[in-house]
Amino acid sequence: MSLAVGSNPVNLSAAAQRVARPRTYLMCRPTYFDVTYEINAWMHADVEVDRELAMRQWEDLRSTYLDLGNTVEVIEGVPGQPDMVFAANAGTVVGGRVVAAKFLRPERTGEEAPYRAWFAARYPEMVIPEYVNEGEGDYLWTGSALLAGSGFRTDPKEHTETAASLGVPLVPLELVSPSFYHLDTALAVLADDQIAYLPEAFSHASQQVLRDRFPDAIIATRADADWFGLNATSDGRNVVVAAQAEQLQRDLTAAGYRPVPVDVSEFRKAGGGIKCCTLELRG
Ligand code: ARG
Repeated sequence: MSLAVGSNPVNLSAAAQRVARPRTYLMCRPTYFDVTYEINAWMHADVEVDRELAMRQWEDLRSTYLDLGNTVEVIEGVPGQPDMVFAANAGTVVGGRVVAAKFLRPERTGEEAPYRAWFAARYPEMVIPEYVNEGEGDYLWTGSALLAGSGFRTDPKEHTETAASLGVPLVPLELVSPSFYHLDTALAVLADDQIAYLPEAFSHASQQVLRDRFPDAIIATRADADWFGLNATSDGRNVVVAAQAEQLQRDLTAAGYRPVPVDVSEFRKAGGGIKCCTLELRG
C-alpha cells in the first residue's frame, strides 16, 4: 500500500518493517579541528572555528550513537591535521576487509599514517590502494553493492580496485556539483538498498542509474542537502541526521524511519557533517 505525504510516497508495509541493527563506528576526537586551508567550496580559512563548540557537538554525536546501542571506537587526532575528525575518509570496511584511503590533497595525506596504523592493528590484511580514494566519503555500502562516487576526489580507476579488494559489486556514480564533492554529501544509505539523495548533484547518466536502482528513494531538497542533511548515518531505523534538515526529517518519518536530529554545524565550516565524522566498521 502506498500513500502520498509531502513530496515522497510512503510505503506503509516497508515502514512497518524498519529494524535497527546496532553498528560499530570509528570516530576521531576533534582536538585539533580547524579550518586553515581551503580544499572544498565550504571552507574559508578566514572563518573562526569555535573548537569548544565543535568538541561539544562531536561529544553529542558520540553519545547519541551510544544511546542508540551502537559501539563507538575513538582514534585521537594528530596536531597539524585539522580535517582528521572526518573519519569517514579514512578507509572503507566491508565484511572485515579494509581498503585504506589515499588522499587527493597534500593537506590531508598526513592522516594516512595514523589511520593506517589504527586499521593495521585490527585488520592485518588491510589493502593500501594504488590510486586516490577518500574512503567512505566516496564509497557507500548498500548491503548488496558499493556505490562509488567520482568527479572531485576519488579516482574512478580506484573504484574497480576497491570493489575487487572488498569482493563486492560496484555501482559507479559521477558527482557534478562542487558543493557536493564527496558522495556522502549527496546520498545517504538508509537501509539495505534504500537511499535518500539529491539528484542535481549527479550527472544525468548517474541520475538514471539511481532512479532505476532505487525507485523508492527519498528525494532531498537542496536546502536540506546544503545543511548536510544527506550526510546522515542509519542503523536501518534510527537515522542520525542534521538537526537543520527539517523536510528530510519529515520525509524520513513518513517512510517509517526515526530521525534523530543532531547539530554539528561547526563542522560544516570545513565542509563536513555527521556521516563525515563517522566510519562504519563492518566486521
Ligand atoms: N575538509 C574536508 C575535505 O575537504 C571535509 C571532508 C568531509 N568528509 C566527508 N566524508 N565528506 O576533505
